[in-house]
Amino acid sequence: MIRSVVRGFGAALPKQVVTNADLESRVDTSDEWIVQRTGIRQRYIAGEGETTASLGEAAARAALDNAGLTAADLDLIILATSTPDNTFPATAVNIQNRLGMHHGAAFDVQAVCSGFIFGVTTADAYIRGGLAKRVLVIGAETFSRLLDWTDRTTCVLFGDGAGAIILEAQEGTGSNSDRGVLTTQLRSDGAHREKLYVDGGPSTTGTVGHLRMEGREVFKHAVGMITDVIEAAFAATGTTADDLDWLVPHQANRRIIDGSAKKLGIPLEKVVVTVDLHGNTSAASIPLALNVAASDGRIKKGDLVLLEAMGGGFTWGSVLLRW
Ligand code: ACO
Repeated sequence: MIRSVVRGFGAALPKQVVTNADLESRVDTSDEWIVQRTGIRQRYIAGEGETTASLGEAAARAALDNAGLTAADLDLIILATSTPDNTFPATAVNIQNRLGMHHGAAFDVQAVCSGFIFGVTTADAYIRGGLAKRVLVIGAETFSRLLDWTDRTTCVLFGDGAGAIILEAQEGTGSNSDRGVLTTQLRSDGAHREKLYVDGGPSTTGTVGHLRMEGREVFKHAVGMITDVIEAAFAATGTTADDLDWLVPHQANRRIIDGSAKKLGIPLEKVVVTVDLHGNTSAASIPLALNVAASDGRIKKGDLVLLEAMGGGFTWGSVLLRW
């Protein structure tokens, strides 16, 4: 049985750090409010010349270095983003070109904060279906460019960045002790569109638009949706919370992360949290968190790692993999 095994990982952040104190001079907010409601202490914001493609390229190069590979060894690039450099061509193709790769294929997937889960799921399907052997999956975002910087209810929550992993086809036994992706679970429901969306687009306003969010409504749905896809991952593999080494959640809000872990009986020592450092970087948040925890030695080869996310759409999903 073919498995999609993590061969390498990497990440990239913009140069500029913006603290909560920095935001106090822009909008009517406070470090205390932001930390207490979200756990965010700082975020990175893209400056001149930094774009989704440039951050994605840097994360991709770091993942290739980590894997000991070059772009010549890849056959597919999947970029999860909701903040492309241009409406088209796909930013993945831009990154492919920046990497000097002119073979294979590259495309974007768009599932907002669940984008990386959707990207890994797509890569895993290509690999298990025999259509690709090595897939670079990137989550890269520049949400700062979609924010209404006069709206304190949203502008304090988000940041920019990129993370990437390389998945490689390897023969497995089909058991849970195999390294690689063990199960993926995807969901979406467009009935929730108005709760988190961008009020512009090429086919409606002809503008880029700004992010709009009913934060309390999103919060109300988040824990239930996250629990749904985590329980589905456990059911599909016959595993339980006790089997997990690490939960690496989408980093939107500390309270959502803690609430989901508590409901599932996952001790907080097993949860990777980077929302304090990065803010909510949408599709980039999970690979950024993976990069931190795998680089500092917490996530080790053979560990059972659960990824989950929920975001605009709504979309939500999980990936259970053995690192
Ligand atoms: N600074 C100070 N006060 C603020 C700020 C701010 N930045 N933002 C809002 N407030 C005020 C509000 O105006 C309100 O004041 P009022 O009572 O006088 O009207 C008060 O704080 C409480 O506002 P709420 O919106 O009720 O605050 P809540 O406790 O719900 O926290 C938050 C808001 C943090 C947005 C929370 O609802 C949340 O985390 N929601 C989920 C959002 C999320 O995770 N989104 C991302 C998931 S999807 C994706 O990642 C794209």
